[in-house]
Amino acid sequence: MKKALFSLLFTIAAPSAALPYPNGTPMYLTDTGPFCASCHSAARAEYMPEAPPDFAKAEVPETKHYALVRSKLPPSPYIELTDDEKEEVIRVARLIDSRSSVTVAAPESVKAGDEVVVEVKARGGNGPAIGIMLVDRALRFQSRPVSSSGWQVLGEPELMGQDGKPQRSWFEKRGEGLPSNLNYAALEGQEFDLEKDLLPGGTVTYRLRAPMAPGVYTIAAAFLYGTENTDKAGFFQRPSGRILFSEEVEVRVE
Ligand code: HEC
Repeated sequence: MKKALFSLLFTIAAPSAALPYPNGTPMYLTDTGPFCASCHSAARAEYMPEAPPDFAKAEVPETKHYALVRSKLPPSPYIELTDDEKEEVIRVARLIDSRSSVTVAAPESVKAGDEVVVEVKARGGNGPAIGIMLVDRALRFQSRPVSSSGWQVLGEPELMGQDGKPQRSWFEKRGEGLPSNLNYAALEGQEFDLEKDLLPGGTVTYRLRAPMAPGVYTIAAAFLYGTENTDKAGFFQRPSGRILFSEEVEVRVE
């Protein structure tokens, strides 16, 4: 009886656990920060100034991802690959990283309580989804949703994918009646062909109400993407995801 229950639980749990990551996180439809992506490699150690230097250095792709790909010891999920296959995984991931970028555009100064438009442009990863978060700082573990520092997200952010068309598939997954003025969104159904230089990409446009308290505020965009998209077992141990931040922009609220 116990065994039957266990296998039933496993059947129910396995597919839903295997779904989210290769396609982004279709079940986590809420305000969030990049801290959640603990398995992803961080593009730069500088995103973690509060962490011990050795820890921060071990989070970049060179150590967290490629050292594991090359590792000859279990429990590496890459253990079954030949040396050539391993080098190919690394070559492709490096190319994807070198072509991945994210920028955020915001006005330099606004009046307290005024409405502003902030535009995030991202390109990169291997799809089919890429994730964008609007946050207050370019900090891997300590940035907050932009709304935490007083910016109110007004309405649903506008998403445009690599085909240049608006898309709402992400927000349509929100529960009925729930507002969709979120700081986190994913562009879905993005195509990838490295040879043709076709990478996921697009724009997320946020309408924000400026904070009521005057001061200088920072805003940054976090970009979450993948470099492998494998469906092999051991997927969850793979550090093939990435966290890349835009520059922090300063906005003066008067
Ligand atoms: C258990 C490890 C793990 C955690 C935790 C995790 N991710 Fe990932 N994530 C992955 C892996 C593995 C990939 C696939 C990378 C690839 O394509 O090589 C990925 C890919 C992604 C992608 C790109 C999807 C795609 O189609 O390639 C997004 C967006 C993403 N993650 C967002 C998040 C967010 C947001 C969180 C926190 C809520 C999160 N991840 C937490 C492992 C994780």
